[in-house]
Amino acid sequence: MMRVMSVVGARPQFVKCVLVSKELKKRGIEETLVHTGQHYDYEMSGQFFNDLDIPKPVHNLYVRSEHPGEQIALMIDRLETVMMDELPDIVLVYGDTNSTLAAALIASKLGIPVAHVEAGCRSYDKKMPEEVNRVIVDYIADLHFCPTLTTLHNLFEENIYNTHLTGDVMKDMVDLYRPIFECKPKICVDPYVMLTIHRPSNTDSEARMDGIMDSLGNLSTQIIFPAHPRTIKMLMKWGNVIPSNVQVVDPLSYIEMLGAMNYAEHVITDSGGIQKEAYLLRIPCTTIRDTTEWPETLQDGWNVISEPKDLVHNVMRKKPTVYVGNQFGSGNASTLIVDLLEEWYGTDRTIN
Ligand code: UD1
Repeated sequence: MMRVMSVVGARPQFVKCVLVSKELKKRGIEETLVHTGQHYDYEMSGQFFNDLDIPKPVHNLYVRSEHPGEQIALMIDRLETVMMDELPDIVLVYGDTNSTLAAALIASKLGIPVAHVEAGCRSYDKKMPEEVNRVIVDYIADLHFCPTLTTLHNLFEENIYNTHLTGDVMKDMVDLYRPIFECKPKICVDPYVMLTIHRPSNTDSEARMDGIMDSLGNLSTQIIFPAHPRTIKMLMKWGNVIPSNVQVVDPLSYIEMLGAMNYAEHVITDSGGIQKEAYLLRIPCTTIRDTTEWPETLQDGWNVISEPKDLVHNVMRKKPTVYVGNQFGSGNASTLIVDLLEEWYGTDRTIN
C-alpha cells in the first residue's frame, strides 16, 4: 500500500490539505502529516486543525524564524531526518510557501518523488517569494495537479510534463462548507468591506502602507481587518495611522472568514487564496498588487488589480452581473488527486 507524506506549514496549506487527507484516509492509504511550524500562533495554525478536523501532525518540526534563509534551512534539515526515517513513496506539497519549497527540495535530494497540489500558478513577478517557490517546486515535482486550464497551459509553455487538470481543492472546500458559513451570523453591521494585507510588497514599505491607510480612510464604509501577525508588526514599526473606519481584529478561523466575506460588500486583499474565495463567493474584490496568479478572477471585473491610490475608485465600481464561475473545477479536485496518486503508484513510478 502506498505511503504518502504530506508537508504543510502555513495557514493556506491547512485549508488545502483537508479534503485530500480525508480522501487518503477513506481509501486506507497511509498518510504521514508533517507540520513545519512556519505558522504557529493558535489563530494561524491550531484553530484550523481543530475546526477543520485535520489529524494531529505526526511530526511537528517547530521551525520558528523571521529570516527566509534560516527558515528554509531549518526546515530542510529537520525534514531530511523525518523523510529518511519514514521513507515515504511520495511527498505531497501544497501551494507556494517556504514550507512547500523546503519539502520539495529535500525530497528530491533524497530521491523521493514529489507531487505538487496547485501546480502551474504564475504571477510572473520574481520579486514575490511565492513565485520563485512555485517555479522551483514545479520544476522539481514529478506529478503536477493543476487547479485551472491556465495553470495547465503555463506548465505546457515551460515544457513541464506529468501535468493533470484536477480543479482546485479550495473550491472543494468552499462547496463543502457553504451550508455552514451561509448560516453563520454576520460578524458586523452592514454594509462592510473585508480587508486582508500581509504581502511584504505592501507591509515592508512605510510609504505604501501609508498610501493604503489613507485610501481606506476615504471609504465611507466600515472595514473589517483580520490582521496577520506580520502586518501588525510592520504597522507598529512604521507607526502608520489606522483610520477610524478600519476595525482591526485577530485572524479569523476558516469558517468565520468565509462567512464574513460572504456577507461583505467588497473584499480588499493582497492574498492569492482570498482573491479566489471572493470570486467563488461572487463578492467583488480589489487586489492591492501589481499582478495576480489567478487571472480567472479578473474576468468580467470580479477582481481588479489596484494601486493604493486607486483603491476608492476600484472599490466603488459597479458589481459585475456576468459570472462564468466554472474555472476552478467541479468540487471534486481532492478525489481526482487521490485517483491520480493511486494510478501513479500502480504504474512504473518513474522519476523524470
Ligand atoms: C506565508 C507565505 C505566504 C502565505 C502566508 C499566509 C511564504 C514565503 N509566504 O507568509 O505565501 O500567503 O504565509 O498567511 O512562505 N508569524 C507570527 N505568527 C505566526 C506566523 C508568522 O508571528 O503564526 C510572523 C513570523 O514570525 C514572521 C512573519 O509573521 O515575522 C511572517 O511569517 P512567514 O511565515 O515568514 O511568512 P508569511 O508572511 O506568513
